[in-house]
Amino acid sequence: MSADTILRTDGLTCDFGALRAVNHVSLDVKGGTLHSVIGPNGSGKTTLFNLICGEVRPSAGRVYFEGREVTGRAPHDLPHLGLARCFQRTNVFPKLSVYENVWAAVFARRTPGVLGCVRRAGEFSDVDADARRVLADVGLAARSEARAETLSHGQQRALEVAVALASSPRLLLLDEPTQGLAPEATVQMTKLVQSLVGRYTILLIEHKMRIVMSISDRISVMAFGEVIAEGTPDEVRDNRDVQRAYLGARR
Ligand SMILES: Nc1ncnc2c1ncn2[C@@H]1O[C@H](COP(=O)(O)OP(=O)(O)O)[C@@H](O)[C@H]1O
Ligand SMILES: [Mg+2]
Repeated sequence: MSADTILRTDGLTCDFGALRAVNHVSLDVKGGTLHSVIGPNGSGKTTLFNLICGEVRPSAGRVYFEGREVTGRAPHDLPHLGLARCFQRTNVFPKLSVYENVWAAVFARRTPGVLGCVRRAGEFSDVDADARRVLADVGLAARSEARAETLSHGQQRALEVAVALASSPRLLLLDEPTQGLAPEATVQMTKLVQSLVGRYTILLIEHKMRIVMSISDRISVMAFGEVIAEGTPDEVRDNRDVQRAYLGARR
């Protein structure tokens, strides 16, 4: 593993009964990069994220984050380790305001467990400052006081990214953040992801080829649970196995 690797998976494998959803996947994600995972529906991308995040136990293989093995760690440990994930579905508290959603996430990150009870009031000002900074980062500062349920679909996605950023992650996992969004909201979300590049290391699952090609540093292509190609956008675009997987010739 080279020094600038932040996440590494080694032979990660996941069987669901007779179905091998993820087959011997070894990824090497470099710090500061946007690394995308693409592949046809059902190729194992979300399961790969579930394995990395401890939602699903691998049948074989290991996960290393910042050089430390984290295989099988409980999902709720991840923010404290420096890893945050956005789910494919929207996942915010609808009745709370935009600000409260992010404030709660910042607070939870900084104050694990019962220690929260003994904080002094003055310390809350840092939580407030962090929450406002994150809201500005995702372009929601003007909607801070709105109830989350009143946001548009695209803004709710942005809020979910804000909740993930609230834990100051050193690695952010995004699973199809543009899925189901209208064209205009897709453009907004793509810009948001692009604006985070450099400040955060991002592992992105994205189905839309055009987006992936324009924003990624590296791309891993999955088909039938395996990584069939990996490289820069240009390398991947020219790869015949990738073209075949996308044209459906292997199905
Ligand atoms: N919890 C599960 N139990 C059984 N099969 C699953 C489960 N999760 C995913 N699968 C199967 O694993 C394969 C990969 O799914 P998934 O990782 O969701 O693919 P992708 O995200 O690339 O569309 C699919 O065939 C899917 O039906
Ligand atoms: Mg998926």
